[in-house]
Amino acid sequence: MKVFVTGAAGFIGSHVVDAFLADGHEVMGYDNFVTGRLEFLKSARGSERFTLIEADLEDRAKLNAAVEGRDLVIHLAANADVRFGTLHPRKDLEQNTICTWNVLEAMRLANVNRIAFSSTGSVYGEPSMFPTPEDAPFPVQTSLYGASKLAAEGLICAYAEGYGIEAHIFRFVSLLGARYTHGHVVDFYRQLRDHPDRLHVLGNGKQRKSYLHVSDCVRAMRMALEKARGKINIFNLGTDESCGVNDSIGWICSSLGVSPAITYGGGERGWIGDSPLIFLDCAKIRSLGWTPELSIRESVELTVRYLQGSGHVTA
Ligand SMILES: NC(=O)c1ccc[n+]([C@@H]2O[C@H](COP(=O)([O-])OP(=O)(O)OC[C@H]3O[C@@H](n4cnc5c(N)ncnc54)[C@H](O)[C@@H]3O)[C@@H](O)[C@H]2O)c1
Repeated sequence: MKVFVTGAAGFIGSHVVDAFLADGHEVMGYDNFVTGRLEFLKSARGSERFTLIEADLEDRAKLNAAVEGRDLVIHLAANADVRFGTLHPRKDLEQNTICTWNVLEAMRLANVNRIAFSSTGSVYGEPSMFPTPEDAPFPVQTSLYGASKLAAEGLICAYAEGYGIEAHIFRFVSLLGARYTHGHVVDFYRQLRDHPDRLHVLGNGKQRKSYLHVSDCVRAMRMALEKARGKINIFNLGTDESCGVNDSIGWICSSLGVSPAITYGGGERGWIGDSPLIFLDCAKIRSLGWTPELSIRESVELTVRYLQGSGHVTA
């Protein structure tokens, strides 16, 4: 299969590239390196079945040409940051919604009819049902990021209906693992590296989240792409656990061997759009035979170990 991966040099994208190459596929990566890193593609670039296009999804001519002849598009490129959304109100719309439309249009023009999309548990806003199933009541949006992803999901479904595209939409919880570059573990890691005696936490530390290791996530995506072959296939991807921010702090601190004084910003949310409880119902993906191999605690600890060894952690 000829697979096209947007955001190929990112945290998740580079693992997706490696997995599809390992399965024997031909993979073309597309990335503008705004947050992606060439070193994440070190192994992929050693394969003669991998090609890399350094370009922006806003460059529709380059995108259209690149998508030509592919069998499957895995669209991961996005502005993946939730927290700073209100500082740049156009960014999520442009990078997450309009760029997704650019990808869909490139597919329509080239007659490419399969897409996998990285959506997010943030589309549920602050839901009323826990664990939250894929068909939870239509959610009220609390972040520009979640809104832009839900809009992108809407476009993908409309293209699936209108142009016969098969769509797999994956709503990830927060992911952890090697090549992790953004999120609470690296935020806490940076603070504790700079001053091991103190840690400042946004919110009251009682927020509960669910996390998934990137290897479990990519395995779930591949299984769903193989086994679920309807027109529109929407899957939550997470573990059947949640953990408190304070639990996670305890695991990070014991991994690093530090006992900092902890201060809290206060309030139930760390920032606008931070949901105090994220816990997705993953029965649908589990019904295909998938189960995560790593617990949240193991994923946090592996991520800390990666950060300690990687040298990727900048200020
Ligand atoms: N990491 C998580 O916990 C998480 C959770 C839920 C959903 N997601 C989604 O998964 C996807 C991948 O996230 P990630 O954590 O790997 O983020 P990332 O920032 O590491 O990867 C995104 C990649 O896309 C590239 N990119 C961004 N805008 C681009 C553009 N306009 N043109 C070309 N390339 C562009 C970046 O350079 C980067 O390599 C995103 O869609 C994100 O919203 C991530």
